[in-house]
Amino acid sequence: MTASSATSAFRILVLPGDGIGREVVPAAVRVLQATGLPFEFLPAEAGWECFERHGTALPAETLAAAHAVDAILFGAVASPSHPIAGYRSPILALRRELDLYANIRPTTEATSAAPAVVGRRSSVIDLVVVRENTEGLYAGQETSDGETAVAKRIITRRASERIARVAFELARARRTPRDLPRVTVVHKANVLRETCGLFRTTALRVAEEYPDITADELLVDSAALQLVQRPERFDVIVTTNLFGDILSDVASYWGGGLGMAASANLGDRHALFEPVHGAAPDIAGKGIANPLAAIGCAALLLEHLGRRATDDDRRPNGHDIACPDERQGDKQMIKNRTGTLYRAPTTDSSLSDACFVWAGRIRAAMRATLADGICTPDLGGSARTDDVAEAVIASMTKQT
Ligand code: IPM
Ligand code: MN
Repeated sequence: MTASSATSAFRILVLPGDGIGREVVPAAVRVLQATGLPFEFLPAEAGWECFERHGTALPAETLAAAHAVDAILFGAVASPSHPIAGYRSPILALRRELDLYANIRPTTEATSAAPAVVGRRSSVIDLVVVRENTEGLYAGQETSDGETAVAKRIITRRASERIARVAFELARARRTPRDLPRVTVVHKANVLRETCGLFRTTALRVAEEYPDITADELLVDSAALQLVQRPERFDVIVTTNLFGDILSDVASYWGGGLGMAASANLGDRHALFEPVHGAAPDIAGKGIANPLAAIGCAALLLEHLGRRATDDDRRPNGHDIACPDERQGDKQMIKNRTGTLYRAPTTDSSLSDACFVWAGRIRAAMRATLADGICTPDLGGSARTDDVAEAVIASMTKQT
């Protein structure tokens, strides 16, 4: 790691959690270390095994650290499907506690060289599911008397408005090959007239503030079919919590499946990056988990830090970082490719620029690795987790 004082390093809380989280998160950390950017990694515990050891899935020290860091890299947790006294999913708790209200789940077309995704490919798939992350059917308000079980679906104007704004801002900031950015509001307001009705009217009202962005709407069942039949029609999808959970798994198919799906959980003050795949107990411990979802999270994390670094006084310019001589060329590369979630900054901050440049290099290295046929069994290959991670690191450092 390049020298930097502890106070100016990016502080990253590392929560591998359970199952393959413990295999893919270290791979993503190695990728971040290979950038030479100033990082301080703080490992901590969370998850089911943590619960079994300490009686809590999210220890107070972990939560306190989560509040204090610049970003969190999260792996997976193996939550049981039946109620366990005292157990609460730590990822749901973190989303609520840190008010990580926007779950950003991008899908870009899979690289054709990975055997399992040949034939799935469509070069125009570049979509993002923006999932409301704090309420809806995840509000945690469920009761049962043994005969009748009830879940409250909480939808507020405030949460609907802020998630809609995230979606429209993202549509504006993304660089895609499209001429017209578009936000599709997905709901089921024909049945859930009050809850989805409030979400729908609130989102469509926000749409009026963005005349440069096409807004349309779809019922969730129709959206599911269109994600299968006509995925290229989508740009940004904004929807409620459970619909977003389901639709983002569907969408991930076009990116190569869950082994490729990265996500960002963002709030106004905190950010957590998490592969969508979960703990995958069937393959945990075998060393064959696909690390590209977690490595994709590393790229999202860098873009987030890059955006923050532009307007953060605590991070003066002029860090001793691996800044490319060919910076202009790199910027152009970012500009011309798909899959970059955010616009590169226009301010003159070397640290911010370097974060964006490295995010672009990581994604280019992921594509190059797949193009070389180096991939794990979920993509039809025979490479191991570490082989893929090492290939990505070799390719991204070659780009400097
Ligand atoms: C996801 C997961 C979580 C969710 C689970 C693990 C609680 O499926 O991040 O998509 O439902 O949000
Ligand atoms: Mn899910």
